[in-house]
Amino acid sequence: MALAELYCDASATTPPLPEVLEAMQTVHRDAWANPSSLHGYGLAAAEALERARQKICTALGAVSDELVVTSGATESVHLALLGSTALSKPGRVVISAVEHPAVEAAAARLSQLGWQVQIWPVGPDGQLNMDLLEEMLAPPTQLVSLNWGQSEIGTLQPILQIGEACRRRGVLCHTDATQLLSQARLDWKALPLDLLSGSAHKFQGPRGVGLLLTRPEVLQQSIFGGGGQQQGWRSGTEAIALTAGMAEALSALPPHHPITGSEAPAGLTPELRRCRDRLLDQLMERKGVQSTGAGPEQRLPHHISVVVSDADGQPVSGRELVRQLAVQGVAASSGSACSSGRSQDSAVLTAIDLPAPLRRSGLRLSLGPWLSEADLESIPRRFDAARAACT
Ligand SMILES: Cc1ncc(COP(=O)(O)O)c(C=O)c1O
Repeated sequence: MALAELYCDASATTPPLPEVLEAMQTVHRDAWANPSSLHGYGLAAAEALERARQKICTALGAVSDELVVTSGATESVHLALLGSTALSKPGRVVISAVEHPAVEAAAARLSQLGWQVQIWPVGPDGQLNMDLLEEMLAPPTQLVSLNWGQSEIGTLQPILQIGEACRRRGVLCHTDATQLLSQARLDWKALPLDLLSGSAHKFQGPRGVGLLLTRPEVLQQSIFGGGGQQQGWRSGTEAIALTAGMAEALSALPPHHPITGSEAPAGLTPELRRCRDRLLDQLMERKGVQSTGAGPEQRLPHHISVVVSDADGQPVSGRELVRQLAVQGVAASSGSACSSGRSQDSAVLTAIDLPAPLRRSGLRLSLGPWLSEADLESIPRRFDAARAACT
């Protein structure tokens, strides 16, 4: 297979920025000690760790007590769901029908512990059915966990509106913002949310590190014990280089686009958003290409998702299309990274009630600032060649 040259799989992961690699290298070289040690090496490590944590907090409008550094969003969502409920009498937890498997898994754990897991249905564009808001937040609901930017179909949810409604009812609100953080700088202190998860590799930081933002008194218990680092919320010797890499990546995001007014971020780079809109239009002009998820205003600004049929109207295999796109020099995905390796109906395309024959025909192109306008102009031609080569 030819080495794909145009990387259009940002929702799976993103290339680390040079300054991220440099920051990590510096820590590996100069601050490799255990930050709990009391000697000079340890103090240097502790200082590097504190600096990185402060940088993360500054970028996100949070304070240090509100930040737990984790191994990634998978761990963050588990800590959010399990850690905020550990000492509560089991009640009801609400998640959407289009959550990442990590959230579904954490909710399944709660179910084993006696919690009722309620699925909040979505419409054909992947947006939550807001007519059900009152019903979903009514007792015995204690916790709501919803993604803010769906990885496979790009749909944004009205998280702020739901967060406000949760506040009024004393219901905890967690959002999985893993896909959003590359597109909108958040101001944690202004958000009506109790818990927010993210992963650094989705915003050009390193893989294997993520964050959970929380509020005082929201976490009740950690999900594993040990040395008591991070105020006991996340035991284990801190990964300082990864934390520094995440801090650098967050700080490198272009200036703030406030998200509090309009819930749909314009995208941190308006040029990229324009290119995305144009590419989506170009793909949609083609017969047999149908977009999935919400329209351009209600979806992640860097995200395109479609289902594809051939000239005879027969659904094309998304996996085969991705393979042929790689031959044409485009790195894309047929859905979420976690499920795209397997051949089965997409759970998300099933949840939005897409006709069954199309549920294996998904294609996702997720863009980033490493792509030029000229790169993107070449994609429709490459797409045509790839589709024609699908058997
Ligand atoms: C919405 C969402 N949540 C959670 C995750 C899990 O992130 P990680 O694999 O970094 O733990 C991902 C990764 O694809 C994601 O897209």
